[in-house]
Amino acid sequence: MFDPTQESFPNTRLRRLRAADWRRNFVRETALSAADFILPLFVIAGQDRREDISALPGVQRLTIDHAVAMAKDAAALGIPAVALFPAIAPELKTLSGAEALNPNNLVCRAVRTIKASVPNIGVMTDVALDPYTSHGHDGVVMDGDVANDATVEILARQAVILAQAGSDIVAPSDMMDGRVGAIRHALEAAGHANTMILSYAVKYASAFYGPFRDAVGSANLLGSYGGPQHKRGYQMDPANGREALREAALDVAEGADLLMVKPAGTSLDIIYRLTQATAVPVVGYQVSGEYAALMAAAAAGALERIPALMESLHVIKRAGASAIVTYGALDIARVLAPVTGAGGTL
Ligand code: PBG
Repeated sequence: MFDPTQESFPNTRLRRLRAADWRRNFVRETALSAADFILPLFVIAGQDRREDISALPGVQRLTIDHAVAMAKDAAALGIPAVALFPAIAPELKTLSGAEALNPNNLVCRAVRTIKASVPNIGVMTDVALDPYTSHGHDGVVMDGDVANDATVEILARQAVILAQAGSDIVAPSDMMDGRVGAIRHALEAAGHANTMILSYAVKYASAFYGPFRDAVGSANLLGSYGGPQHKRGYQMDPANGREALREAALDVAEGADLLMVKPAGTSLDIIYRLTQATAVPVVGYQVSGEYAALMAAAAAGALERIPALMESLHVIKRAGASAIVTYGALDIARVLAPVTGAGGTL
């Protein structure tokens, strides 16, 4: 039994553990390494172009050739995977998001090219319709709402098309009910037994996705074409924690290999609770708004960019995340690398 009287001053002085770098290094409970990160990349059509994203300073939309170069940099630094998000031309967006099912669409071309050019990096793609719909929702709109079951059928087909293009991880980010099971079933039937499902199991209807929506060009679409003005009908209420356990349990039962919690920084408690409730690895997504907020504060001189970013990632790992999606992956991996070589730890 733990006897609290055993740990008392002056017998115990915790500052002894903190008195020098080597002592602190020696007792550090979690280490960040390049191998923890997934780098998101926004992809656009065309050749040799990069576009700044005003709401997301330091991140750009890239044509496939530049995305390949970034993926090579990531692999060289020991980052295991990239997550691809297409910014689709407005003229290709429709009410049903049909372009999502085109096997030669932008993201499929990007997956094929990256897999062919950077063999030792994992490629993850979102399963959701929002880049492709004229109303910006993750599914099809019927009678003023996003229709669950009709959307799930489309998502299962989208996942197979992404797997066929070479996607190693398909990541349903849509929050429809039952989609993980439908996707797993469709992948098995199509011979993609080794394609992983990273389920956005706990995705909150967050105010922190704004810069991402700007990046993929869906920012001002919600509310148009009869769709709701928000995603609260399918994404979770940030006030809820226990509900996250139900979302996770359902997705695990349906065949999720990995569970995503997002935004990570505002849901550290949820990351922790999922690691207690399930043995499935949990991934935290430091979303666009969290990253942009840090960058804006750093640009304003209110905090130091790299230490603040490092701390924000360290606590996501401490909460229990096995991996972290962050727009800062390359910068942090570069800082970590010189310490102990590529893929080094801090
Ligand atoms: C879309 C999707 C979103 C993000 C990842 N996939 C936005 C949304 O649901 O509106 C957010 C990522 C970020 O903000 O960095 N299915």
